[in-house]
Formats: sequence, structure tokens, C-alpha cells
Amino acid sequence: MSQPLPADLVRLASAAAQEAGELLLARHGRVAVVQTKSSPTDVVTEMDHAAETLIRERLLAARPGDAILGEEGGQTGAGPVRWIVDPIDGTVNYLYELPGWAVSVAAEVGGVIVAGAVCVPLQRSTFTATLGGGAWLESAWEGNSPRRLSCNREVGLSDALVATGFGYASAQRADQGRVVAAVLPRVRDIRRAGAAAVDLCSVAAGRVDAYYERGLHYWDIAAGGLIAREAGAMTGDLRGGEACEAMTLAAAPGLFGELRDLLASLDAEPPAQRLRRPLIAGKTG
Ligand code: IPD
Repeated sequence: MSQPLPADLVRLASAAAQEAGELLLARHGRVAVVQTKSSPTDVVTEMDHAAETLIRERLLAARPGDAILGEEGGQTGAGPVRWIVDPIDGTVNYLYELPGWAVSVAAEVGGVIVAGAVCVPLQRSTFTATLGGGAWLESAWEGNSPRRLSCNREVGLSDALVATGFGYASAQRADQGRVVAAVLPRVRDIRRAGAAAVDLCSVAAGRVDAYYERGLHYWDIAAGGLIAREAGAMTGDLRGGEACEAMTLAAAPGLFGELRDLLASLDAEPPAQRLRRPLIAGKTG
């Protein structure tokens, strides 16, 4: 099979994410928790499984040889493209009927994310990006005509609206609370919207100025990270490396440096997690 074009991959990612979004909307407000994972508050609904199954079917129908890493189903296959799928990012939002949940589908070729789509059904919006091709928003509120995204570039730390999130383990949350308590007096304000993929798209769209979170997974940030970078943001950890489980930080270059220094001074990136593998290949801080 010839080398796949990012433009073809993003079309497929976007179509699969949007179809899963429709499926999820149809059952919104009527779902049951079927399983918990890392802690009793880390829930999986029947719809996480149903949406991932649908996305897998659509991807493999179009590209039978590909590999897929899904949050619920793990890794399958070994083809030239690896799809990274989060069927519901923000599962707790979905369960509580809050609007900030998303379907995230990214395509990785040779270890690099080259295309990604994040569908946010209740915002009637789909964010997409291809490597080198920019980040785009298609929103029903804007007549579905694609708009190129650019992150906020001229904002300093004290004026920055900073999104963050918290993990599911209570010891980690206690430490994240310590860090956010020290960040809050130094910035414009904090937002905790509840879905990492949406937070990264919000950086891309200039709806927040920066985002940081410790303890994310690859599927949380594979598509959203590319979308943020293609909108001009930097992504990385606190030590000049790529975004990783220890820390994902996204912001325009100047603010990225200021926030990175503040978070590093607060020891926000735990040494024990620093050895874990990078989550995203590509441009870093
Ligand atoms: C979660 C969301 C949340 C973040 C958590 C993630 P999930 O993903 O992205 O915003 O704070 O760290 O685990 O569990 O809903 O797929």
C-alpha cells in the first residue's frame, strides 16, 4: 500500500469521530456505568465501548491493514498507520450530561501523529489538523465552513486563562490541588472543563491561553496535541521534552516558557513519572 496522505487520513478520522458523536448523542443522558478503571471515579460507560467499536469498524472498513490503539480495546493490528482512539474523552461530562465531551481520533505514521480530529458533538464542532497543514474548526454555529485556527500569542502569565485537569487517583489529585492553588494567584483564572482533547482544541482556538495536566494518556492528547501545535502552540513537558504522562503543557511559545518555569518551580512534574515514554512525537518545548 502506498504512503497514506494526511489529508485522506484526517477525512477518515473526522468522519469516524462524527459518526461516533452521533451515536453518543442518541443515548445521551441514558447511559450506565459498566466498569471502573484506575479508581472508583474513573468510569467506563457502555457507550465508551459502543463508540470505540463503531470507530474501529469504520477505520478498518476503509483501511483494513491498519493498527488501532483504543482507550477501551487496547492495541490491535500492525499496519502502516496506527490510529489512536479515545471514544469518549470526558466520560464524566458525558455521564452527567455536561457538554464538554469529545470523540478523538488521530493517525500516527512512523511514530508521528500526522492527522487528528476531535468532534465535540454538543458544541456542534469538529476540530481537525494535519501535520504542516494547519488546524481547522468546522462548526454548525459558523455554517460548517472551515475556519483556520491560531492560538493566542501575545498573552503573558498574569493575563493568562489557564485550563487544567485532574487525574482519578486521590494522592495525585491532592498534589495537583497543591500545584493549582499556587498557580491560581499568578494567572487571570483557571478552567477545569473535563476533557483533555477539548482543552487542547481550546488552546488552538484561543478560548483559553494555556493548558497543563499531569497523568494523561496518549489517546487523550494524540489528536488535540497536533491541533494545538498546528494552531501555533508549543506542546511539551517541563524539561524540554515531548508531552508525556508526567506532564502535558500547551501554550504559545512565550507563555509556554513562563508557565513551564512556574510549574517546574512548584515541582508539578513528579520524578517517578519522568521515565515514562513520550506521548507525542513532533514539535516540543
Ligand atoms: C479524562 C479527561 C479529563 C482529564 C483526565 C482524563 P477520560 O479522560 O480528559 O479532562 O482531566 O485526566 O483521564 O477518562 O474522560 O477519557
